[in-house]
Formats: sequence, structure tokens, C-alpha cells
Amino acid sequence: MVKRASILGTGSCLPKRLLTNADLEKMVETSDEWITTRTGIHTRRIAGKGEDNYLLAANAARKALQDAGTEPDEIDLIVVATMTPHMIMPSCACFVQAEIGADNAFAYDINAACTGYLYGLDLADKYICSREDMKILLIGSETLSARVNWKDRNTCILFGDGAGATVISSRGDGKGVYDSNLCSDGRLWHLLYMHGPKSLNPEIVQDGNDGSYIRMIGRDVFKHAVRAMEEAVQGLLDKNNLTIDDVDLMIPHQANVRILHKVMERLGVPEEKVYINVNKYGNTSAASIPVALDEANRQGLLNRGDLLLFCSFGGGFTWGSLLMHW
Ligand code: ACO
Repeated sequence: MVKRASILGTGSCLPKRLLTNADLEKMVETSDEWITTRTGIHTRRIAGKGEDNYLLAANAARKALQDAGTEPDEIDLIVVATMTPHMIMPSCACFVQAEIGADNAFAYDINAACTGYLYGLDLADKYICSREDMKILLIGSETLSARVNWKDRNTCILFGDGAGATVISSRGDGKGVYDSNLCSDGRLWHLLYMHGPKSLNPEIVQDGNDGSYIRMIGRDVFKHAVRAMEEAVQGLLDKNNLTIDDVDLMIPHQANVRILHKVMERLGVPEEKVYINVNKYGNTSAASIPVALDEANRQGLLNRGDLLLFCSFGGGFTWGSLLMHW
């Protein structure tokens, strides 16, 4: 029997500080009414002192380990999906390893923007298929507040900080990740991007790299996100002779409510089958799916054997969908 990756435990960590739409009204020319109707976001969490990306990630990891009944030294691999590590090198995953004392693990980061957690889940499944007793800590963690231009009302209202973690292994029953459909299109990078640090090599200088913050053509991102997520989900269902009615719960990337409603409408999935928390946290990029999954798990919404559907879209562009039995 082919062994597949199952999630044994979940955890999340959100910064304490709440940033409301009323707070944003004092920072840029905007209004609660505009933000609510265009995005559905009411509040987001913003990291403060002692809430660096790797510390949020480590706290989420401790909770996931506890939920899974797993000790840190049982972990073989730590993968952190992030585009906002507090250092370029070492990786966020190495800092998490040191924080939680996962001394037997190897560790690295992946960056697929908002789709990072889904790419990581697919990666974890491939490891488990080749070594079924492997235990993997997969985390999505972001401090986007450090990479948002707080003077740009087009972007600063959308994002928040947070971390979600999952302990992954095989349950030995062939259940877990069922199938995935991952995509990217690097030709469209210019619609949503963030420069890295400026080059110190005088021969390699990027024009327009005047700072490292998120830039976005919102309308174009919106259109691509809706179409790409719908196609990624429908394609995956068709390939497996399933319909949306076979899905027990859909946990999409939490970008904004309008995108989610459009995707739901096109797929014909009723609202009660979709977990939405973007109203509370804004868009936390790679953290959004594992945070939502942890909330759904702790609220008792997930039953063993349920068919879960994940989908996401983000910078790159990257996007995809994944089916998993809980
Ligand atoms: N408050 C008030 N007015 C604003 C604000 C704001 N915060 N931001 C923009 N506006 C103004 C614009 O300046 C523009 O004014 P103008 O007509 O005088 O030029 C007007 O509102 C309309 O701007 P649009 O950009 O056309 O507004 P739109 O209806 O497209 O909504 C939004 C903008 C919410 C960003 C939308 O395009 C969107 O949701 N895009 C997807 C972006 C996204 O989710 N990105 C996250 C990363 S990718 C992902 O996670 C899927």
C-alpha cells in the first residue's frame, strides 16, 4: 500500500496586537466601509517585540507537537513556507529547530508566496511516500507587516502576520494526501512582487529596487486569482472523478472575501462548506491555510476520513489545489 502524508497535529500563533480598519483610517486615506466591502477584512494581527517570524513559527510548532503527541526530537525534517524570513540566511526553519530543540531534524525554507503551505504539503507527501516513518514539521509563517508599505492604501489594508504549523507523517492506512494540482507562471511576476535586498555587486543592479516591500496591481491579481483557483480545483476534481459535493470542507487561502465568494460561486460550493477567517486576520500569505486548518481542527469541525480541499493563489504567480483525507 502506498503510504500518504497525514496531518497528526495542528497549531497556530497570532501576534497579540490588533490593527483595526479604524486604526488604518488614521494612517492612510481609507474607510472602514471601503475596506469591508472590497475585502471583508475587519482586523489583522501585527507582530511586535518578541514576535519575529521564527518565534511565531516556533510557538505554532510547539502547539502542533503537543496536539500530535510528538516530541521535538522525533522530528526528522522542518520546512517553513515563508516569504518574510527575518534573515536571508540561515533559514527560518533552522531558527525554529534551535528554538524547539528538534535536534534530529534537517531544516530548510521554501518560498512559493501565498501557495507556500500547499507546495510544502505536496513536498511532505513525496517524502512520506519514499520513507513512511518520517515525521515532518510543516509550518507557514509570515511577518508581512515588515514588508508592507504603510503609506500605500492599495496594499497595507490587506495583510497581517501569523503562523500555522502541522506535524505530518503516515498513519499507515494509505490515507492522507489524495492528489494535488500545483501550478506557476513566472511570466506574470510583475503583477505582484517584492524586491529583495539591494545588490552589493555593482555589475548586477536592479532598476527600481528602492526598497523591499509588496507591490501589486490589485485588479489583475483579483482576476487571475479567481480563475486560477477555480481551474485548479475543478481540474483536480475532474481528474479524480469527484464533484464538489464529495468534499466535506474547503479551506482556501484567505486572501479576501470577495475573491473567495467568486471562487465559491463558480464552483457551486455552499458557504457552510468553506472555512473563512480572513475577516479576523487579513491575508497572512503562507500562514493562512495552516492557521485556518488549526482553527477548524480545534473547533471540532474535522472528522476522521473527511475529504478536505485546499486551494491557493499568490505571487509568482503560484497557485494550486490539494485533496486530503483527514
Ligand atoms: N481605501 C480607499 N480607496 C482605495 C483604497 C483604500 N484602501 N485602495 C484603493 N482605493 C481606491 C483606488 O485608488 C481607486 O481610486 P480611483 O478610482 O480614484 O483611482 C479605487 O479605490 C478603485 O481601485 P481598484 O484598485 O480598482 O479597486 P478594486 O475594486 O480592484 O479593489 C483590491 C482593490 C481590494 C486590492 C482588489 O483589487 C483585490 O482584492 N485584489 C486582489 C489583491 C489580493 O488579494 N492580493 C493579495 C496577494 S494575492 C492573493 O493572496 C490571492
